[in-house]
Amino acid sequence: MPTKTSSRSTRSKGRSRSTSPMVVVANRLPVDLVENEDGTVAWRRSPGGLVTALEPVLRRHHGAWIGWPGGGSADLEPFEEDGLSLVPVGLSDQEVEEYYEGFSNGSLWPLYHDVIVAPEFHREWWDSYVTVNRRFARKAAETAAPGAVVWVHDYQLQLVPQMLRELRPDLRIGFFLHIPFPPTELFLQVPWRRQIIEGLLGADLVGFQVPGAAANFVRLVRNLTGNKTHRDRVTLADGRVVHAKAYPISIDSQGLEQKARHPATQARAKEIREEVGNPARILLGVDRLDYTKGIRQRLRAFGELLRDGLVSVDDAVFIQVATPSRERVEQYRVLRDDIDMLVGRINGDFGRIGSPAINYMHTSFDRNEMAALFLAADVMVVTPLRDGMNLVAKEYVACRYDHDGALLLSEFAGAAAELKQAFLVNPYDINGLKEALLGAMSAEPRELTRRMRAMRRYLLEHDIDRWAAEFLDGLADPGSHDKD
Ligand code: ADP
Ligand code: G6P
Repeated sequence: MPTKTSSRSTRSKGRSRSTSPMVVVANRLPVDLVENEDGTVAWRRSPGGLVTALEPVLRRHHGAWIGWPGGGSADLEPFEEDGLSLVPVGLSDQEVEEYYEGFSNGSLWPLYHDVIVAPEFHREWWDSYVTVNRRFARKAAETAAPGAVVWVHDYQLQLVPQMLRELRPDLRIGFFLHIPFPPTELFLQVPWRRQIIEGLLGADLVGFQVPGAAANFVRLVRNLTGNKTHRDRVTLADGRVVHAKAYPISIDSQGLEQKARHPATQARAKEIREEVGNPARILLGVDRLDYTKGIRQRLRAFGELLRDGLVSVDDAVFIQVATPSRERVEQYRVLRDDIDMLVGRINGDFGRIGSPAINYMHTSFDRNEMAALFLAADVMVVTPLRDGMNLVAKEYVACRYDHDGALLLSEFAGAAAELKQAFLVNPYDINGLKEALLGAMSAEPRELTRRMRAMRRYLLEHDIDRWAAEFLDGLADPGSHDKD
């Protein structure tokens, strides 16, 4: 069932200011304030991988989380929500348009994802980005205890490390970028490129998903600022050292496996298979509705397999779940229309009464339903054109304690560097994608078990706790990098 909004009873006033020994700063809070149709308001889990990854980390570290509660809103008071200390930062309607939809998601997001769509640069978007980053930095300065660790996240807040250091030089400041960091040739398009690099250099440690991204950053530092660099170290003019290194993010692998092992989840997985007509194979896609995810490419490949007669709706059904995302940004509207049309055409051409070829849902599901979907799927289809990591791929592997199921994974997702036993594909190559889909659908059980076992061994060891511990150790003891 779709995720429901909830007004939880655990809400209460949060910690007083300047007392948190660990502070996470991210554009979004883990919950989003939404208005119901009857005018009442409620909290709902925020979309995206950043929240999935960080929520368990913050629970274990008992820190405060600074972020935007969604919508155009004034600052709310800090509060506790389901055991987390949350510190909201409000954005005006104009800031939502210029800082969030504009510079963050109309300039940086497409630029950092290989220019899949053209980024736009507008000076008023940039001004708003600076203003909002300063607001987040001030809030962090008010919230952090003396000598605290402040961990800033993602592309929306790249100026915060430097702004925060100016306000509070006593803090240890870490920054982690959840999305790709582009090659220098692309990054140099940004009119404010130097300001962004200097913003990031306010941190003691800058973390990336993959080593290539860290190398891109260090190279830009050298070219744009003239600071000395040696491998992952940058030495600034005042002698301060900044480290830049890869920390591939992960998930709560065990927690998710437990959800998948629950009898209610298994029963639900069976029910899902029945609901889609018990086909020989279920293919599944689960994403935010984003042009980086390669949803068009995977549906086109599946449609062609039906057209070529290599697959029929009795053999295989595609389930595609797409969370609504950034719906007021033009490129996202275009994508939604394109996918609606593509699904309609494929179902019109190949579906039968009661058996559509593609079951498409433009919604988000709760975590239990997601685990059941992963268990029900024979082939998980993850085909981003570019993705920092892609947690969905890891979630699928975590749920398959039965060592069954095939993961089809794009070479252009950060996860491909770790989940090497997946069926790896180039999503731009539609014929290759069709072959890989057929290969994954017809693989021998022994072959699937061999691949899944190896990926699970890796994932259970490299989970979100290990990721957080390694980053925070690196931040506390930067010298440990130099021994690498
Ligand atoms: P991104 O951060 O770009 O959205 P990721 O794959 O890294 O991509 O993370 C997406 C997160 O959102 C995962 O935890 C995934 O389970 C969740 N998610 C994606 N789509 C849906 C959906 N339709 N319903 C519920 N959760 C979803
Ligand atoms: C990705 C980004 C996050 C972002 C999430 C959801 O995971 O890395 O920073 O929060 O997508 O996008 P949204 O724009 O809804 O916050």
